[in-house]
Amino acid sequence: MGRLLCIGPIELSGRGESVGIVVLSLRHEHSLTMSLPLQGQVALVAGAGKRLGQAVALRLAEEGANVVVHYRSSRAEAQDTVKEIEKIGRRAVAIGANLGEVVEIKRLFDEAGRHFGRLDILVNSAANFLRGSMVSTTEEIWDAALGTNLRAPFFCAQAAAPLLRRTQGTIINFADTGGLLGWTGYIPHSVSKAGVVMLTKVLAKALAPEVRVNAIAPGTITMEGDPTEWENDFIKLAPLRRTGKPADITESVVFLAQSKFITGQVLVVDGGRSLSQ
Ligand SMILES: NC(=O)c1ccc[n+]([C@@H]2O[C@H](COP(=O)([O-])OP(=O)(O)OC[C@H]3O[C@@H](n4cnc5c(N)ncnc54)[C@H](OP(=O)(O)O)[C@@H]3O)[C@@H](O)[C@H]2O)c1
Repeated sequence: MGRLLCIGPIELSGRGESVGIVVLSLRHEHSLTMSLPLQGQVALVAGAGKRLGQAVALRLAEEGANVVVHYRSSRAEAQDTVKEIEKIGRRAVAIGANLGEVVEIKRLFDEAGRHFGRLDILVNSAANFLRGSMVSTTEEIWDAALGTNLRAPFFCAQAAAPLLRRTQGTIINFADTGGLLGWTGYIPHSVSKAGVVMLTKVLAKALAPEVRVNAIAPGTITMEGDPTEWENDFIKLAPLRRTGKPADITESVVFLAQSKFITGQVLVVDGGRSLSQ
């Protein structure tokens, strides 16, 4: 929601008559009068129907970007996200695709490119979070974890690269502290996210100098409805003694989107969790 700004009384007639109070949405007034950092840019956020992806999509819109809101099954939520972005004064479109299928990934970027005619920022937020220990990991769990969390970001980058090269754009991947520490209850997940760290480095080299590629490795970021034990377990281990909030992540996305001399880096946003094993 925009904060409200009251201006007035103001003179409209030029004859000394002042007319009431004018109330503007600060956000809209802002977009009318000054250029925002991402004004005119287009971002595609994968997995933006809800949770962190949705928060990132809204934050990028607040910074001036038009947004492609990608979803798989959260169609209604993605359409709500589009409406929220339009309220901010930006343009948005929801496009569905199962990122487990490379053909779907290609269609997603074709449609996005046709809709907005450019792409500046790709945020690979879509993921799953599957349990899998030495004993319980099956072939299906392994393939699903690696397929969504690692294979898909690579093929998204491949499909986006021609568009991003044209705009000197950027890719922001989502790793995870599990990919740095290695969680024995989540072996395929940890391996997939460790892969995202290497994917970020190798893509940064492969797409330079036109396209910058970085990653964020969040610790536990709690949102409404998350199990309370996630928060309690994390707080015990994180030096900053709290879980993260979506804003902690969205600020990092905005920072990396604008940091023109940073590429191939992983920004760990985890309250210090990864400092303690
Ligand atoms: N939340 C945390 O505490 C935390 C911590 C560390 C790292 N991260 C990372 O941060 C990112 C966002 O986290 P999150 O908790 O917001 O994620 P999430 O809710 O687990 O997943 C985000 C979205 O990914 C989409 N998705 C899953 N499989 C897909 C597929 N095959 N094709 C297309 N879309 C697919 C889903 O879209 P639909 O709903 O439309 O199906 C889902 O809404 C993830 O990469 C996650 O690993 C999060």
